[in-house]
Amino acid sequence: MREKLLHTAQVKALINKVAGFEMPEGNPRLKKIIERVVTDLMRTIEDFDVSPTEFWAAASYLEKVGQSHEMGLLVPGLGIEHFLDLRLDQEEREAGLTGGTPRTIEGPLYIEGAPLSKGEARLDQDPETGEVLFMDGQVKDSHGNPVPGAIVDVWHANTAGWYSHFDPSQTPFNLRRRIETDADGKYKFRSMLPKGYGVPPDGPTNELLAAIGRHGKRPAHVHFFVSAPGYRKLTTQINIDGDEYLHDDFAFATRDELIPAITHHTDTAEIHARGLNEPFATITFDFTLHKEAADLPAAVVERAHAA
Ligand code: DHB
Ligand code: FE
Repeated sequence: MREKLLHTAQVKALINKVAGFEMPEGNPRLKKIIERVVTDLMRTIEDFDVSPTEFWAAASYLEKVGQSHEMGLLVPGLGIEHFLDLRLDQEEREAGLTGGTPRTIEGPLYIEGAPLSKGEARLDQDPETGEVLFMDGQVKDSHGNPVPGAIVDVWHANTAGWYSHFDPSQTPFNLRRRIETDADGKYKFRSMLPKGYGVPPDGPTNELLAAIGRHGKRPAHVHFFVSAPGYRKLTTQINIDGDEYLHDDFAFATRDELIPAITHHTDTAEIHARGLNEPFATITFDFTLHKEAADLPAAVVERAHAA
């Protein structure tokens, strides 16, 4: 068998220099991380006999991901965003924090500053055909007490699976609202039932997924940030039950506790009572927040958002 270059003094010395170990300046932890990443990359090249042509194809692929602003798609697609969630879950468990509404990935499509209202909101401002959704629930603490004044920041795709801001055909903040819970910790909104999302078919994320035999589809879902003073911010989503991708999410965000029952109402009297002419759907979902405490990992993830 051929000698592993990675084990030679020559390559070890190279990595040592690459990681800045010979320099007193710089961040020691970062040096170690760079050493590990570069070593792992070299090991992959060596173990899989990656040719220079293949390597440069990978480098220009990553350049294309950045140019297409698809880092936020590739990260969940590779399971890393879910892995980061699993790590936070683990750290919380180790700190004795259990129960509460599970977190799941933020995804790349949040926009800050959605209109704020008290108690209730209507999310759909652009005309669409589809099923009207009424969703309501309560924000509670871990003892089941209501949390009034919590902010439920909600965003989701339209009936075609596209998000406002990223889809220029929608008006700003369509299907994005912040709702402050009332004195009973309750929120409610009217919207349109979203459709599942798929990564852009011609983008680099889909290119990689297709090359490894995967799809880039997500089940229909609704995103939430739920926050209140003194409580840990919750980043989560609910999935729309019955979606064909419910347990086949390319971003690995589905969790069993995040699939609330959905009721489709077809009774004419009920439909008219809501001021509608077509069947509609209802979902009730409560959020349970944990109290903030020392020695817990940061629940707020600092992350650049499109604006
Ligand atoms: C992606 C899209 C989403 O709507 C989401 O919630 C998570 C990830 C994506 O394109 O990667
Ligand atoms: Fe999404």
